[in-house]
Amino acid sequence: MTETVVDVHLTAADAAQSLRADVRAGLTASPKWLSPKYFYDARGSRLFEDITRLPEYYPTRAEREVLAERAVEIAVTTGARRLVELGSGSSEKTRLLLTALTSAGTLREFVPLDVSASALREAAASVVADYPGLTVHGVVGDFTQHLGLLPPSDSRLVAFLGGTVGNLIPEEREKFLRSVRDVLGTGEWLLLGTDLVKAPDVLVRAYDDARGVTAEFNRNVLLVLNRELDGNFDVDDFAHVARWNAEQEWIEMRLRARRPVRARLGALDLDVEFAEGEELRTEVSAKFRRDRVESELRAAGFELHRWWTDSRQRFAVSLARAAG
Ligand code: SAH
Ligand code: AVI
Repeated sequence: MTETVVDVHLTAADAAQSLRADVRAGLTASPKWLSPKYFYDARGSRLFEDITRLPEYYPTRAEREVLAERAVEIAVTTGARRLVELGSGSSEKTRLLLTALTSAGTLREFVPLDVSASALREAAASVVADYPGLTVHGVVGDFTQHLGLLPPSDSRLVAFLGGTVGNLIPEEREKFLRSVRDVLGTGEWLLLGTDLVKAPDVLVRAYDDARGVTAEFNRNVLLVLNRELDGNFDVDDFAHVARWNAEQEWIEMRLRARRPVRARLGALDLDVEFAEGEELRTEVSAKFRRDRVESELRAAGFELHRWWTDSRQRFAVSLARAAG
């Protein structure tokens, strides 16, 4: 029988508390910063889906190409009974894995985890409708905090797609990969999508598209602060900036004050000032080379089993096994 359960490990009260602490820390720091996880309210999740269809934003199409080609091999190699997806969003590309794993006859349960309750519920309902017999156990949670609360299991494949691992700064990434290893038993699997280093103009265009959808996505975080923290930011006061940081090999998204700005966040009793031209960093999106992916996986206790790229070497999918 088909079943859907959604566990909420990140309650509205917990989420509000983290938001308050993070925003106070980030907006009183110099330079100012915010965590990219706050982009993803219902509107932000929809804008991200729009981004994935833009001509300039190649990562989704490139990753889908790899998954389409390798899903059967992934299913046969892993024989997974449970597919856990971190930062699952719409779980759209994941259907390639669900189809291959159900055809192979091993898959019993799909466990998507996302901080965005709206995206998670929509995706879970749609997967349940299309994969009769599959148990879908959604988890509303933060993958940097709640991996220990995933339903206990064995024979798992953990998928972390889209290149979202690149949205963690290196220290967070190291801690995150270790925490994934810690919840897995030896021999269980991780499937990791990473965007690759390439010509800076191609990268910058992917994060500064001609239609301005990425700019809307970036500015959406200010609307989240206005709604959740009783703020009065005027999004038109801020320009979208996407810049390649060649030293760190990551794209930085920033919001730059077009004029001097003074905004109030009533819920924090905090006044925030920006000088004209001052920038707020809202996201990093790290780009990788094979040696870095391999060494970071090894340091976290994974052994790289397969490395695949799309036909134009823009994006990589790694299949790694939890080492003993
Ligand atoms: N995996 C999908 C979606 C990528 S968008 C794809 O490949 O297209 C990034 C997703 O990660 C969003 O759905 C966002 O809500 C989620 N996310 C971001 N930070 C998160 C966090 N700390 N914990 C859980 N989910 C997070
Ligand atoms: C979800 N993540 C991998 C996207 C990225 O490419 O870093 C988020 C995004 N930011 C701007 N465009 C897309």
